Amino acid sequence: MRVMLIGGGGREHCLAWKISQSPLLEELICCPGNVGISSLARCLPVKETDLDGLLEVALQEKIEMVVVGPEAPLALGIKDHFAEKGIPVFGPGREGAKLESSKTWAKDLMSACSIPTAAYAVFQEEKEALNYVKKKGVPIVIKADGLAAGKGVTVAKSMEEASIALHNLFTKKVFGDAGKKVVIEDCLEGEEVSVLAVTDGKDIIILPSAQDHKAAWEGDKGPNTGGMGADSPAPVLSKELEQQVREQVFLPLLAGLEQRNIDYKGVIYAGLMVNKGILNVLEFNVRFGDPETQVIIPRLQSDLLELIVAASSGKLSDVSLRWTSDHALCVVLASGGYPAEYKTGYPVSGLETIRKVEKLLVFHAGTAFEKEKVVTAGGRVLNIVGTGSTLKEAYQNAYRGVGMIHFQDLYFRRDIGFKALPSSERMCSK
Ligand code: AMP
Ligand code: GLY
Repeated sequence: MRVMLIGGGGREHCLAWKISQSPLLEELICCPGNVGISSLARCLPVKETDLDGLLEVALQEKIEMVVVGPEAPLALGIKDHFAEKGIPVFGPGREGAKLESSKTWAKDLMSACSIPTAAYAVFQEEKEALNYVKKKGVPIVIKADGLAAGKGVTVAKSMEEASIALHNLFTKKVFGDAGKKVVIEDCLEGEEVSVLAVTDGKDIIILPSAQDHKAAWEGDKGPNTGGMGADSPAPVLSKELEQQVREQVFLPLLAGLEQRNIDYKGVIYAGLMVNKGILNVLEFNVRFGDPETQVIIPRLQSDLLELIVAASSGKLSDVSLRWTSDHALCVVLASGGYPAEYKTGYPVSGLETIRKVEKLLVFHAGTAFEKEKVVTAGGRVLNIVGTGSTLKEAYQNAYRGVGMIHFQDLYFRRDIGFKALPSSERMCSK
């Protein structure tokens, strides 16, 4: 099978690594790809949002399956666009992608399907929104309706923070049209967990849980990032809770999508808040998570491409997945300063050494080749993934790997996995 993968981050490197192991694969093409992916796939410099450019490549290369990493192409309607030429895309069409691209739409759907989620109201006027916040009090959560690269949410702890967030959205228009509508919702407490599932529209397979670490600094402090690390499985999601996620979240969601004639084949990612055994949905995404994928997929023993093909052709019931009982833990190595300003272009050393070590995987994100040497080229540079039969072992392997990589201004969090790891089992190698 000739497969095209879209994207160029750590998630896509991990997907490329797994797909390239499939006996079904004839050739993997990646647009645009990255340094790590270039040793697994043929990378072509087409932007992920250039749907016409991507279609041209897909036609030329006789692509038989398209796997989309990031949300933007799905929100733009790549599925619908490619369907006109008969090229299957693993993921929802533009309508289904609204689950991620419009928070208002997603909240209204959750409410219509009785999916547990924080109480909310939608506003298009700053004054009305501010009055609502004054009435509700703080803490309160303010969300831009549209896609904002993960930066559109403010958990406001003071009235001042809330009014600045509203002013930024409505008056300064920092997120442009994505902030035309604003969701204001009650602030929930608890522990966050990501639960990803694959569906063919009828059946659903829930993947092992994972926990992202979104804050830049240790102890979940500092600004939100694209993710500084992850571990899987997430102990907070007990077997009973997983059953509740199926019954209270995924099944009603699938029924709701079907009722609206939305043919959804792909990944549904539920970001959940769990508090004393009670779960609420914070958000849905319509794609694999980053960095959750980097800790979930290495635990999959079955063929990922077979799963993707089965889901895309409505035959998910034929598939049963095998998983290792291993744990996996990912530490993101970032450029110092990220998510604010940072410098790039620094040489990365240690990649050759780490490649030979068992139970360690490296997925590239912000790297580039410069005179045939790998240099830093983004905020999140590398994902170091350790595996092991216990969380402690996965944690130790990952941080041992972290100690092997060097570049100027290297920054990483030393507490990935600590929510699940007793303090007696912690160490750090740097
Ligand atoms: P979202 O993009 O909607 O997942 O929001 C990004 C982050 O904001 C989440 O991962 C949470 O940490 C936080 N968040 C979102 N909604 C809420 C909420 N209702 N209560 C508390 N925190 C929230
Ligand atoms: N890890 C968060 C996301 O993929 O959106």
